[in-house]
Amino acid sequence: MSLRARPVIAIDGPAGAGKSTLASHLARRFGFLNLETGAMYRALALKALEHELGLDEEEPLLILAETTSIRLEPQSDGNQVLLDGVDVSTRLRHPDVTAAASRVSVHPRVRVWMVEQQRSLGESGGVVMEGRDIGTAVFPDAEVKIFLDADPEVRGDRRFQQNGTAQAAESASKEAVVREMRERDERDRNRAQSPLRPAHDAVVLDSTALTLEEVLAQAEEIVRSRME
Ligand code: C5P
Repeated sequence: MSLRARPVIAIDGPAGAGKSTLASHLARRFGFLNLETGAMYRALALKALEHELGLDEEEPLLILAETTSIRLEPQSDGNQVLLDGVDVSTRLRHPDVTAAASRVSVHPRVRVWMVEQQRSLGESGGVVMEGRDIGTAVFPDAEVKIFLDADPEVRGDRRFQQNGTAQAAESASKEAVVREMRERDERDRNRAQSPLRPAHDAVVLDSTALTLEEVLAQAEEIVRSRME
């Protein structure tokens, strides 16, 4: 197998489809950096919460973004996130930040700001970039695009188990987690700017009936066949 030296691998899809696990696996497997763009929306949302900004008004969020530094430090199992130099990685997984990130991400000019940052992070290639609009908006020319999907019930189950610790802290029920995930998906799919959808040249991988090992193996195969 010969992989071109520094491709961009775009992994998009709804919440709970398994994008993070897949992206960090592919990054390890092929020796690339794994960049989680959702963490950037979460970081800005956290700062907005700390400043008690209204999440539905674009202008103050944009002004906040322009004086914000968000750094992603790829680790073997995900990204460490530095918000204005402070490690906020754990805080970003809490449900209040999750809900706020979803609302912050609908604003078109906030997205433009994010996309600029994400392009400069990935411009040298050699990255697996994960999010909702990587293949459609951030890197429309990415060498490999995978849209990872799964039935909503399955995604809800996975997300509930995955986020056990943070959820336990707020004693959210599974129903509440599933409901919240559906709301976020709706918002992502229906927003005006770069809504969640597969790029026309993405390979759609439905993980509903697949084991983790099968998803990883199929995705590796997609990467190989696209890169050869
Ligand atoms: O992927 P994650 O759940 O961390 O993303 C948090 C939120 O950020 C998502 O609910 C989505 O609304 C938004 N997001 C986005 N575009 C991306 C990545 C995330 O709109 N590329």
